[in-house]
Amino acid sequence: ITAESITVGGKTYKTDSFTNVTPTVLEKTTRQLHLIPTHPIAIIKDLIYSAFPDFKHYETFSPVVTTKENFDDLCFSDDHPGRAVTDTYYVNEKIMLRTHTSAHQLKVMTEADKVLVTADVYRRDEIDASHYPVFHQMEGAQLFDAKTAVDDIRKSIAADTSAVSGSIHTTDTTVITPENPKQDCHDEAAMLATADHLKYSLNMMVRKLFSHEKDLQVRWIDAQFPFTSPSWEMEILYQGKWLEVLGCGVIRQDILINAGKSDKIGWAFGLGLERLALVLFGIPDIRLFWSQDERFLRQFEPSKIQKFKQFSKYPPCIKDISFWSNDDFHENNFCEIVRDIAGDIVEDVQLIDEFTHPKTKKRSVCYRINYRSMDRNVTNAEINELQEKLREEVVQRMKVELR
Ligand code: PHE
Repeated sequence: ITAESITVGGKTYKTDSFTNVTPTVLEKTTRQLHLIPTHPIAIIKDLIYSAFPDFKHYETFSPVVTTKENFDDLCFSDDHPGRAVTDTYYVNEKIMLRTHTSAHQLKVMTEADKVLVTADVYRRDEIDASHYPVFHQMEGAQLFDAKTAVDDIRKSIAADTSAVSGSIHTTDTTVITPENPKQDCHDEAAMLATADHLKYSLNMMVRKLFSHEKDLQVRWIDAQFPFTSPSWEMEILYQGKWLEVLGCGVIRQDILINAGKSDKIGWAFGLGLERLALVLFGIPDIRLFWSQDERFLRQFEPSKIQKFKQFSKYPPCIKDISFWSNDDFHENNFCEIVRDIAGDIVEDVQLIDEFTHPKTKKRSVCYRINYRSMDRNVTNAEINELQEKLREEVVQRMKVELR
């Protein structure tokens, strides 16, 4: 870029040696996918909103922020790698495109104790089916009075009547380690209650999103963020793979003090909306979210998760497999084998039939596998070969009996 100035959102900024925003990325700042009610990103957003009933929503903040808002206010060190020009889009040395919705944490926490911020965020990254330089995040935070947090949280969890169907299996005992420490300023009981409330709230939220899964597996992994301590990542077992869904933790007290909330303790989380939309809608490629093709946009309705119907010109190749399952059988294990064998060519695996034999009580299942390449025609012969291999592996690894 050689121009002396750049205009984004009606405002003009001076350029300098840091400037690395490109016209293509700046074009994206006007799209606002999360504000189109029938767009999968907005549908997921609305579902998450419904899991946090009386939270205040913010969703129209400009993507242009200061490095202070995106980094310094959040306790990023001066040499934090996230600041690198290779990772971040700079308008100039002091002005950038936000890399996360946390850039607005401080501001919104001065205004309310229960907040949700949704926005487009920008990161320089490789481009493939699951990476794109622009994506959408939602930030959530809740603050409690530090003195009464333990009691308030116990009561609020006990009073929660939101009906959630299906079971959830989660590792949610908080263990504090030197690598993932409590902040010195925090009372241990208040911090543990806050962490409990955080994990409880997020478990309820994903249970709502994945309501079609009978048994949802969630795990909490220790993590590190400059602006929370202790910190975790939540992962969900989905079709045989652990999917990283969000980062979260107990908010650094310095940030609360700067927000004028020194008598509070609180949690925050940040999640990627594309990640969730990809799996919940079965969208095969992150680039589709930006499609202006009517065949994409017309498919969806507000507040409804429905499977995306492929309109690629490359035809699918559909194969069914039936077998007698056994007590150890888990769909996730089956999916993992399919993925091992077919890799990126598998688009979808669905249980299309099941029944229990009246005499033997054995359960029979039939899965339909949709093989399709995003970029070429697959041949029936090549898919037959994969399917044959799958039939062998399923017997060998899961000890089931083919029908
Ligand atoms: N901002 C973090 C990210 O983008 C996520 C996060 C938000 C983590 C809030 C903790 C608390 O990865």
